[in-house]
Amino acid sequence: MKTSYLVPLVLLFLYFSIATGTDPLGNLCSEESHVTSNKSYTSAKIDDLLAKLVSIASSTGYAAISSGQDQDQIYGLAQCRGDVTSKDCSGCLQDAAKQTRQLCQNQTDARIWYDYCFLRYNSKDFIGKVDTAFGIYYINVENVMNPEDFNRNLGALMNKIRSEAVVAKNEGLGKGKTELSTFVTLYALVQCTRDLASVDCAQCLAIAVRNFPNFCNNRKGCRVLYSSCYVRYELYPFFYPLDSSNSLTSNRTSVAIIYP
Ligand SMILES: *[C@@H]1O[C@H](CO)[C@@H](O)[C@H](O)[C@H]1NC(C)=O
Ligand SMILES: *[C@@H]1O[C@H](CO)[C@@H](O)[C@H](O)[C@H]1NC(C)=O
Ligand SMILES: *[C@@H]1O[C@H](CO)[C@@H](O)[C@H](O)[C@H]1NC(C)=O
Repeated sequence: MKTSYLVPLVLLFLYFSIATGTDPLGNLCSEESHVTSNKSYTSAKIDDLLAKLVSIASSTGYAAISSGQDQDQIYGLAQCRGDVTSKDCSGCLQDAAKQTRQLCQNQTDARIWYDYCFLRYNSKDFIGKVDTAFGIYYINVENVMNPEDFNRNLGALMNKIRSEAVVAKNEGLGKGKTELSTFVTLYALVQCTRDLASVDCAQCLAIAVRNFPNFCNNRKGCRVLYSSCYVRYELYPFFYPLDSSNSLTSNRTSVAIIYP
């Protein structure tokens, strides 16, 4: 009799561990070749850099800094999604710093993606450079019924929010929604890392949208996670303030594709 209670509890736990954002959407760890072999020095530098990144970005939503000198110099960037609270931002960055140390250990190129934040450090200076070489795509398990109409609406919404994101005062963020029918609303959000110039932000978002047919093709939802920008659309509200007018319950299950 008792075991019957176990199943829902386990499911509940899994649900919350995803909902609170403690699991990363993905990460990348690699070793830069020119780096000093003094690992203990590098390890201490990484800890120092991460502490500074988390501290600054927790209050401002963004930090891009470097630490150390010459051979040992390390560059870091941390950013939260522009619509999340500073509490969620701070919690996400703390998880990101902890997880990336566990996953990437002392490696000198580390990146970690969450829905609410992104954190990266590298021994090479990457600040201000567009990087779309590595991508993680989360695609909804279901396809839309009327792709032609859907893609026309998606394209128009993407154009609108991309043009918002490149306006300096918006700090790389664009978000919006389109009613597809009485019960179906399309929500979308794009965000560039704030180190990018407006033209580079536009380029990152253009590459993401150009890749829609390759990865997101006719899916009910899709996320493109690059090191320089985040692009997402869904048929349910996902950005803040959460829209409560949407009445349709849509399947939110998605699967990841890592490329290359
Ligand atoms: C990382 O560096 C620490 C010292 O800073 C060392 O104890 C540890 O073994 C290193 N880990 C790896 C995998 O090299
Ligand atoms: C590694 O770095 C530490 C701290 O700067 C220094 O004391 C130590 O001598 C270095 N070790 C090597 C092998 O270079
Ligand atoms: C969503 O789709 C997946 C895969 O087709 C299925 O396993 C799951 O039960 C669906 N969930 C809902 C809420 O319909």
